Amino acid sequence: MSKVGFIGAGKIGQTIAYSAMVSGAVDEAIIYDIIPELPEKYEHELRHAFATKGIKIEVLGTNSLDDVAGMDMVVISAGKPRKPGMSRRDLFVDNAKIMMDLAQKLPQKNPGAIYLMVANPVDMMASVFMKFSKQFTISAGDQVETMRMRSFIAKKLKVPVTRVDGFVGGEHGEDAVVLWSTVKVNREPVEKYNLNKDEVSDYVKKIPGEIIRVIGGTTWGPGTIIADIIKSVSLGENRVMSIATPKEYEGEIIHVSAPTVVGASIGPSLESLLDEKDRWHLNAAMKDFYEVYKENLKQLEQALKA
Ligand SMILES: NC(=O)c1ccc[n+]([C@@H]2O[C@H](COP(=O)([O-])OP(=O)(O)OC[C@H]3O[C@@H](n4cnc5c(N)ncnc54)[C@H](O)[C@@H]3O)[C@@H](O)[C@H]2O)c1
Repeated sequence: MSKVGFIGAGKIGQTIAYSAMVSGAVDEAIIYDIIPELPEKYEHELRHAFATKGIKIEVLGTNSLDDVAGMDMVVISAGKPRKPGMSRRDLFVDNAKIMMDLAQKLPQKNPGAIYLMVANPVDMMASVFMKFSKQFTISAGDQVETMRMRSFIAKKLKVPVTRVDGFVGGEHGEDAVVLWSTVKVNREPVEKYNLNKDEVSDYVKKIPGEIIRVIGGTTWGPGTIIADIIKSVSLGENRVMSIATPKEYEGEIIHVSAPTVVGASIGPSLESLLDEKDRWHLNAAMKDFYEVYKENLKQLEQALKA
């Protein structure tokens, strides 16, 4: 039995909710947004889609956060998206205020739920939500980059994407790093192939901005990928995914992605299996995350006082 709450019914929230539901990961869904009628009309859309597919899922679209109760998992995509040219980190203060508010309200009615953060800057929002709610929170992190990387290599080398393995880690966004020691093509190290690694890294960093510039937001890629995270948790699939789980660093909880077993319970992280260079990159990402995060928390404090 898997009850999933979706907080935020915007572009990405709708795509994730739909994809999770058609994949069989959800038995009951509550979809919440602050825009009047939006979740309710989205509920109608879903019911129409389920009618043709013969899907029997209890679904409710609502403007009342009180309806989000008794969930096994709560997926948070509520918040401002970036505009062309913006960095995800520019969204910190605005979206952190939303997370602080949700952190106060969601836990009482959803004891024991796992929280999955989607709103950007996603890893820092997971840390903010967990700091203020004290609830176990994971971030969709670099699983999105991981699939972008695999798809690009598959196209470049003209191999099926199912023959490409490997992960991207670090902070979701411009600072994500391809963990090259994990990348295999046809079960062989990627170095056996004629592949320009810089081109791969560049693609992973730049393609979301390009999609936002032309389409207005990323939806189907991350929507489907994040739905698979929900599915791996709710069906206990134990897939290895590059998500960010909470880690203590200098007394703060931070979220930085590494390949992790994702099932009914989350973990272990497979970081220790990476080569030295990749582990160095992850450690550098944690340090960088911590410094920027502390700075952003100060800005948040000032904004709250103003
Ligand atoms: N992690 C990822 O891979 C990924 C991918 C795409 C988008 N995102 C992020 O997800 C967030 C949403 O993106 P989008 O494209 O769906 O934007 P959007 O503007 O289409 O939707 C955002 C929704 O959040 C709602 N909202 C705002 N405050 C709320 C609150 N307090 N409670 C409930 N709902 C609230 C808005 O009403 C809106 O419907 C952004 O921060 C974006 O950067 C992350």
